[in-house]
Amino acid sequence: MSNEHGNLIKSPKQLIIMVFASFFVPLIIILLLMVFVNSGKREGAGTADAAKSAEQLIKPVAQLNFKDASAPREIQTGEQVYKAVCSSCHATGAAGAPKFGDTAAWSARLGKGYDSLMTSVLKGKGAMPARGGSNPADISDYELGRAVVYLTGSAGGKFPEPKAPAAAPAAK
Ligand code: HEC
Repeated sequence: MSNEHGNLIKSPKQLIIMVFASFFVPLIIILLLMVFVNSGKREGAGTADAAKSAEQLIKPVAQLNFKDASAPREIQTGEQVYKAVCSSCHATGAAGAPKFGDTAAWSARLGKGYDSLMTSVLKGKGAMPARGGSNPADISDYELGRAVVYLTGSAGGKFPEPKAPAAAPAAK
């Protein structure tokens, strides 16, 4: 019977080693596990870092970007407004829009004068929504006017740049 164990433990010295090993090895493993599990919590508890990372974890997926309408912002050029708003129709002629740079399509319209064209843009005309669908909080009348000048200018229009509103900084 004792032969079965005799293979493993042959001397008292080995017995002591075995007892120690069987006691300490699991203990060390448990200790390491505890350190591992706690490390995440302990690391930044109460620090600004922890608050930040918690915020990161619970923040909503989509964030609303609130704008202060009265905050000073950079005035967009006609080209910027055109690219952001008007080009979706006027670059391709979608919905029957007179195309950018299409002199024939614009010539009759140019004859109406800047004010009339501007009114069409502000109020909408045919398939074109008012302000080209833009929000007055994002694009002012002045900026729309610059877009009209830019767009018509591509097709032979020679309207002067609209005057900057008094409160706004001088146009670039
Ligand atoms: C949703 C498409 C669409 C967008 C966006 C759009 N337009 Fe138009 N636009 C049209 C269409 C269609 C017409 C032709 C309307 C008509 O004569 O019936 C037009 C006509 C015009 C005219 C001529 C109006 C007239 O009285 O003959 C001007 C000027 C103009 N657009 C400028 C702009 C500017 C500037 C923007 C951007 C701020 C813009 N458009 C955005 C579709 C669009």
